[in-house]
Amino acid sequence: MTGPAPDLAGKRVLIVLTGGIACYKVPEVIRRLKERGAFVRALMTEAATRFVTPLTVGAVSSDRVYTELWSRDEEAEVGHIRLARDGDLVLVAPATAHTLAKMAHGLADDLASTVLLATRAPILAAPAMNPAMWQHPATQANLRTLRDRGVTIIGPASGAMAEPETGPGRMVEPADLVTAVTDRLVPRPGPLTGRTAIVTSGPTHEPIDPVRFIANRSSGKQGHAIAEALARAGASVTLVTGPVILPDPPGVACLHVETAEQMCAAVEAALPADIAVCAAAVADWRVANAGTSKIKKVSGDLPILELTENPDILAGLGRHPTARPTLLVGFAAETDRVIEHAQAKRLKKRCDWILANDVSPETGTFGGEHNRVHLITADGVESWPQISKSAVASRLVAAIQAVFTA
Ligand code: C5P
Repeated sequence: MTGPAPDLAGKRVLIVLTGGIACYKVPEVIRRLKERGAFVRALMTEAATRFVTPLTVGAVSSDRVYTELWSRDEEAEVGHIRLARDGDLVLVAPATAHTLAKMAHGLADDLASTVLLATRAPILAAPAMNPAMWQHPATQANLRTLRDRGVTIIGPASGAMAEPETGPGRMVEPADLVTAVTDRLVPRPGPLTGRTAIVTSGPTHEPIDPVRFIANRSSGKQGHAIAEALARAGASVTLVTGPVILPDPPGVACLHVETAEQMCAAVEAALPADIAVCAAAVADWRVANAGTSKIKKVSGDLPILELTENPDILAGLGRHPTARPTLLVGFAAETDRVIEHAQAKRLKKRCDWILANDVSPETGTFGGEHNRVHLITADGVESWPQISKSAVASRLVAAIQAVFTA
């Protein structure tokens, strides 16, 4: 007899069980993930241990089960920060209303919530609760917050509950959870399979001294959405990101940097690539005379910051002597004469396409959820309507696919 394909071989999944009756379904999820080759580690809240024992969960995961923040044993063996960093994906199943509320508000008073706050891996949560709790405005507001931060909510399903009530609130079935995990961890072949891409995203931080820096309002939402869309299309993607509060997109190799110089070096190291999309809001200048110790405030004596130019990553790729990407895409955030300035920038930086957007404060695009862009190529200008940043990413990737499959 043959089992399911070991498509999750080498993947590490951290399952967080919180206190709901649906805990009884989780050993089945663990068993199926392990059958597909995943390494599964489980962590339980105190309430979860009332529904299913750590012994049962540990027997199917073939690993010890972590339950305590204050256990000297558990801390010595792995430690909560390592536990948080160890997985390729975190699955919260079942996710109670209480746990979702804690996640939304950043509380960290036990091992599960601390790990959920400390992880950088993508989080999938499968809510399970009474329909009235699910429909409560507080729960719905918490879900909106979590979705905005990139948490994927799976379900809940509708139907009979443990108590004599029906409605939305049942945890989805184990098979659906396994499919959701697999879809996030294993890129399916797509039109860009075999192609490599580099994406830059987010702001850069340029130090003034060890505690102060110059930054900008870029959220990284657009660049991260593009990296995710390229990966979904099958490309092998390296995302070089400045400091952002977004989770790493699934299926993408992420390099975290702070300064423009670090971003430039990371991009150079990631070459060669077929596609490069420079969506980062790279600081134009850095402080030449940055202090190595904190600059003291002396009344009446203002420090003078001397600025020097940062490397232009996009322009560097455009005139790269040996490894210019086949398709090079830049952004132009402008506040006036948007198209005209962007056309000039396309030529100056020698990139193939520019996505120009109006970032006047009244548009709310910088840091916001939506974007209104114009795609500028050698052939002309295509103006797209105002759409979500993930829709901009999908549309851009569709255009990129057209180049590589022509
Ligand atoms: O010149 P400007 O900053 O408006 O150009 C914007 C475009 O150039 C964006 O694609 C941005 O990612 C890229 N850029 C860069 N390195 C810099 C400055 C901008 O890659 N130092």
